[in-house]
Amino acid sequence: MSTAGFPEGFVWGVSTSAFQIEGATSVDGRGPSIWDGFSADRAEACDHYHRYPEDVRLMKDLGMAAYRFSVSWPRVFPEGRGKPNPAGLDFYDRLVDELLGAGIAPYATLYHWDLPQALENVGGWPERDTARHFADYALALHERLGDRVGTWFTLNEPWVAAFLGYGAGIHAPGRTSASDAFKSAHHMLLAHGLAAGALRAAGARRVGAVLNISPVLTPAQVGDFTRELSEEDARVVSTIDALVNRQFLEPMLRGAYPAELLPVIERHAGLEHVHDGDLDVISQPLDLLGVNYYTPLVVQAQPSEPADPAFPGSEGVLFCTVPTAVTAMGWPIVPDGLSLLLRRLSREYPGLDLMVTENGADFVDVVNGNGIHDTDRISFIEEHLRALRAAIADGARVRGYLVWTLLDNLEWADGYQRKFGLVHVDFATQRRRLKDSALWYRDVIRRNGLSDARPKRPTLETVAARAGVSRATVSRVVNGESSVSQEVRTAVMRAVGELGYVPNAAARSLVTQRTNSIALVLSVPRQSGDALTAAVVQYVTSLLEGAGKQITLMLADTAESHRRIVAHVEARLADGVVLLPPDRADTLAERLSRTGVPLVLLGKPAIASMLPYVDVDHAGGAVAVTEHLLARGRRRIGMICGPMDLVAVQDRLAGHRTALQRAGLGPHLALADDLSRAAGAAATRRLLGDDPSLDAVFAATDQLAIGALQAAREAGRRVPEDLSIAGFDDIDAASATTPGLTTVRVPVADQALALARLLLSRLEGRHTASVVLPARLVVRESA
Ligand code: FCB
Repeated sequence: MSTAGFPEGFVWGVSTSAFQIEGATSVDGRGPSIWDGFSADRAEACDHYHRYPEDVRLMKDLGMAAYRFSVSWPRVFPEGRGKPNPAGLDFYDRLVDELLGAGIAPYATLYHWDLPQALENVGGWPERDTARHFADYALALHERLGDRVGTWFTLNEPWVAAFLGYGAGIHAPGRTSASDAFKSAHHMLLAHGLAAGALRAAGARRVGAVLNISPVLTPAQVGDFTRELSEEDARVVSTIDALVNRQFLEPMLRGAYPAELLPVIERHAGLEHVHDGDLDVISQPLDLLGVNYYTPLVVQAQPSEPADPAFPGSEGVLFCTVPTAVTAMGWPIVPDGLSLLLRRLSREYPGLDLMVTENGADFVDVVNGNGIHDTDRISFIEEHLRALRAAIADGARVRGYLVWTLLDNLEWADGYQRKFGLVHVDFATQRRRLKDSALWYRDVIRRNGLSDARPKRPTLETVAARAGVSRATVSRVVNGESSVSQEVRTAVMRAVGELGYVPNAAARSLVTQRTNSIALVLSVPRQSGDALTAAVVQYVTSLLEGAGKQITLMLADTAESHRRIVAHVEARLADGVVLLPPDRADTLAERLSRTGVPLVLLGKPAIASMLPYVDVDHAGGAVAVTEHLLARGRRRIGMICGPMDLVAVQDRLAGHRTALQRAGLGPHLALADDLSRAAGAAATRRLLGDDPSLDAVFAATDQLAIGALQAAREAGRRVPEDLSIAGFDDIDAASATTPGLTTVRVPVADQALALARLLLSRLEGRHTASVVLPARLVVRESA
């Protein structure tokens, strides 16, 4: 076996889930699930319920050996328990027969997050009975399909279902209770144990569970897994690993919760819900562990950091962004993370069979008449397969690999905008089209491995070979020379289209009237905006390059540079422009918008206009801080405003005023000349001089707030005892001050991602509204 080949019998396939593809949520007696109304998008999805024969045919044509689908519990038990719905069972019966007829092994997942609403109404997963109902449901299904389905997975990613659904509230059912999250996790584990036992007793051939397992790394380890950790970092890595990975692995495979997790569970949820004997039930022997891997979790110690609601007990853990390439989800691409975790599982649980049950990526697919040339998805999967192959060579017992996912689908709370499919779905017509990645995967399956040569982006040579002409001819055609016959021209352009060949910008502009390049214009960065600017450059570049664009970075710091940039865009040397930030009262945004080239802004422009922008809810954030100060009993609150020509500052002031007004109070304001610490300190001195009984200061940015801390200390005021201080922006330094600063966190990476998406929509000619993202209050000691 070469290093690119896989062991004989290695299983290739894809995974899907019921709610994300089936649609047909109210036909043939299906009951409602917790997801039906939770996701804002319509639940029609891919209409797989009616189109499954076509989807099975696609898989057959691609050569899949296995298909992991999930069964919709409320389709089988509309009330979650009681009498099964015969029509629901019939559907899965037909699907399984169709698969077997196509030579594809059906792998059934029993729970992929779509709890029957009827069970949520009587308490959902925090209730122990839900586990029992699950086991009954598992058995009913096995009774009907057990003669033909050989592989059964009980749960998919219980961490996500429990902690995002019941803890952070970003998944259905949208509860925000750490206690409910821990209880749900335990009852899911119990459900797994009861169902696994029942299935095995009923004769099921192979029973497993699917976990989302993420390596937990520090930023430095992302580039070098062997990096030694400081004691503090080792502690936070272990905390998160216990919550996400070992909370599920250890009970299932060793019959015990990790010792370090028990006090955390007890603190949030008590331990009464963990009954004697539960862990014996949970630790049924497992035939197969399904591993879903997308990206690592990256953390480091940051003492004053508050807990993230998805990770109760994570006080002191900072979740970090890292400078790597990302998918359109913003998830760092770290293929070796997969081999790291497979090696770890094989080492820690020897003898356990593993399967990669999900791995794949969301990218912005460019669809044109010639197909969908998703080279980024191909490289993503290929790099992960190389990592997987390396783990096998080291002895990891990995039996198969299933791509997430077959079809572009309904990606939970994110809706239809995410594209994880090997197959493109046009949701207006339900037409399916194979992406290049599907054809590439078909070849991997045929070969039972990768080709030794890494696939390259198509070159002039490959186009020439495909069209049967010389390189020079291709060059002449893409450069628009008229000396080439119509016939040859057509052949070359067909090859260009089929291969997804992207000539260099200048050549391409002649062919397509497009430059395929985007100008990323940086005007003088805000003093506190460095992290944001860096993230925008990183994410926007990574995403737009992923969509086949080239980025030209341009600095707009002088009148001359403004002129040059406008001339560049007027000459159509860019297809689109990203401008950040536009908030000084200059006219660059307006001049650029007059060129007619799509323009998007980071930050709301000073002059009201129709230009689409991405911003955060500055006013909402300021309301949250002010209400927090009021709730702490503060009444004489001073605010330090930065320069008032900054739109963000105006909005923060407006939010502050609104909250004060609601409390029947008026503002005390001091203006800072700029956003420096010195200006913050000077403004604080003025505020305290004007009103010595002041009991709180809200600074419009963090640098100003750090200045306020200095001035308060000099004035002998104790923070927070006699003076609360809060800032805005949550720069790194905010958590390192003494005391740590209460601030408002703006989602840096999300802004950058939204910006890239907005521009791509504009380039496709779609109408797009501006995006305003929520800002989150981070409470530390200073207020
Ligand atoms: C996994 C889920 C799957 C899909 C992918 C992107 O966590 O199991 O349904 O959402 O992520």
